Amino acid sequence: MARKNLMYIALWLLVQLLAEINCQMTPFKPKKREGHTATFINNKLYILGGYNAKDVGKEFFYLDFSVPFNTQNLLWNDLSNINIIPSHYDCTSVKGGANNNTLFFYGGDKHVTDFVYTFDSQSSSWSIPKITGDNPINKYELTGIIDHKGIMYLWSGANIANDAEVNDMLILDTINLVWGKGSLVGVPIASEFYGAALLPDNSIIYFGGYNAKELPLNQVYLYDTINDNWSTKTTSGVVPPSREGLSAVLGLDGQRVIIFGGSANDGGNTVKDIIYELNLINFEWRIPKTFGKIPGGRMYHRANIIGKYMVISFGGGDYDQTIESDILLLDISNVDEYIWTNEFYPPTLSMVPSQSAIPSLSTSKVSPSATSAPSTSSPSSNSSSIVSSQSSQLTTSSPTAMIGTILGSVFGGALLSFVGFFLYRWNKNKRSDSNNNQFQYDHGHEIVQSPNDEYTINHQHRSTPASVINNSGQKSTPTTNDEKLTLQEIRQEIRDLRQIILHSSKQQNRNN
Ligand SMILES: *[C@@H]1O[C@H](CO)[C@@H](O)[C@H](O)[C@H]1NC(C)=O
Ligand SMILES: *[C@@H]1O[C@H](CO)[C@@H](O)[C@H](O)[C@H]1NC(C)=O
Ligand SMILES: *[C@@H]1O[C@H](CO)[C@@H](O)[C@H](O)[C@H]1NC(C)=O
Repeated sequence: MARKNLMYIALWLLVQLLAEINCQMTPFKPKKREGHTATFINNKLYILGGYNAKDVGKEFFYLDFSVPFNTQNLLWNDLSNINIIPSHYDCTSVKGGANNNTLFFYGGDKHVTDFVYTFDSQSSSWSIPKITGDNPINKYELTGIIDHKGIMYLWSGANIANDAEVNDMLILDTINLVWGKGSLVGVPIASEFYGAALLPDNSIIYFGGYNAKELPLNQVYLYDTINDNWSTKTTSGVVPPSREGLSAVLGLDGQRVIIFGGSANDGGNTVKDIIYELNLINFEWRIPKTFGKIPGGRMYHRANIIGKYMVISFGGGDYDQTIESDILLLDISNVDEYIWTNEFYPPTLSMVPSQSAIPSLSTSKVSPSATSAPSTSSPSSNSSSIVSSQSSQLTTSSPTAMIGTILGSVFGGALLSFVGFFLYRWNKNKRSDSNNNQFQYDHGHEIVQSPNDEYTINHQHRSTPASVINNSGQKSTPTTNDEKLTLQEIRQEIRDLRQIILHSSKQQNRNN
């Protein structure tokens, strides 16, 4: 009787496992969008809002960057049901707050009545913070930048009330929740849809944008966050033509800024020359060398640095969502040649000596998270340090998910072989029961008659579970034979298996 109960438990676990696999095979598919926000917090890239011919509504979702993935198969996680921000576009966001783990959302179109919303990534909850200081005007079509002290800078953009460009430097202290204003001495012409990035010297660099027309990039503007003053740099080299709706990221060595995409002709079309790089030492532009399939242009997208990649998300323009992924990856680790790639590897995982050393499980193909399980058997000269650095990084993101993954992988493998054995056993019993179920009969038939018994054994091992589950659903009292699983029967089982294998190899010899 105890064995029978065990079998039910095993079956139940298998059903759970299959349900989970099934969930992961049909992930949330977000709509194409532009003018969204993309915020990277604790290995998750959160995407919020945006504009599409169709309303994107309150969609809010993230992609997990703690595990490897391919951009052709993105496993988005949908959080729309907890989102409290009305449908909006062209707003901005940063990671900040007292815990440095909070998404700060600013701005909004006519639907959004509050200026700032926060999403605490630890508790997965939204709120509307109370902010002191002078109430600012509500702007959009801008890019907020946060410095290393938790201060967010919201330069220019357009006033929501009249859609006109505004030239102010709005400052939000995300830790103490206070509004402030920055200097306007030497400020450039007001701009919307510019590119912006924080530099190692705590200046913010601003590129292009739109004010009556797309603005040129032969000059770039620096706002010094330490001294609260502006300066202008004239650029040289291969200067990109005017553009708006572009993105900008700091290179990994801190000596260059890479800009991507954008639009020209009053936002009419995406630029074809999608990538440029500005040297921060001499302010010279160049077109960096890239390898790999060059993607279509995008505008009003967002770009984040994650590990060694410039991660471009969504955007309007030339990309067809059925062909090109919503996420583009540019590996910028080698400044002599950047690489367009579909494969993402988290920084610490790429140090693991051999991915294939991880025991292969039937779940690993459909669930990329399974591959993140640290392998105790992986050959490494200092495997303890690799595992510990890996788990420390992953712990910061979601310890429970990580533990779940490890347990899932270990138990999944054990469970599958365990359940496989029992199902084999059960199936066999049913057959000797001369059960009138057609499927079972066919199976029995195959084992006796098939010229390739080896295949039959494999086949049975993989395909039986589903049909047995059906059977157990149909029959309230499954066969009582399960209870008579004695040591003797197991021996008989092994003998039978040996015969089948012997039979198969004999047959093969005959065929040769
Ligand atoms: C918040 O984290 C970022 C790294 O993601 C770091 O650069 C920044 O300095 C941190 N901010 C504070 C206020 O500690
Ligand atoms: C900004 O302020 C710093 C410190 O006062 C000063 O050294 C620097 O020259 C100023 N830059 C400009 C462009 O005024
Ligand atoms: C292995 O890693 C530990 C902990 O990071 C470190 O102290 C030790 O020096 C490393 N050993 C080797 C051989 O790299």
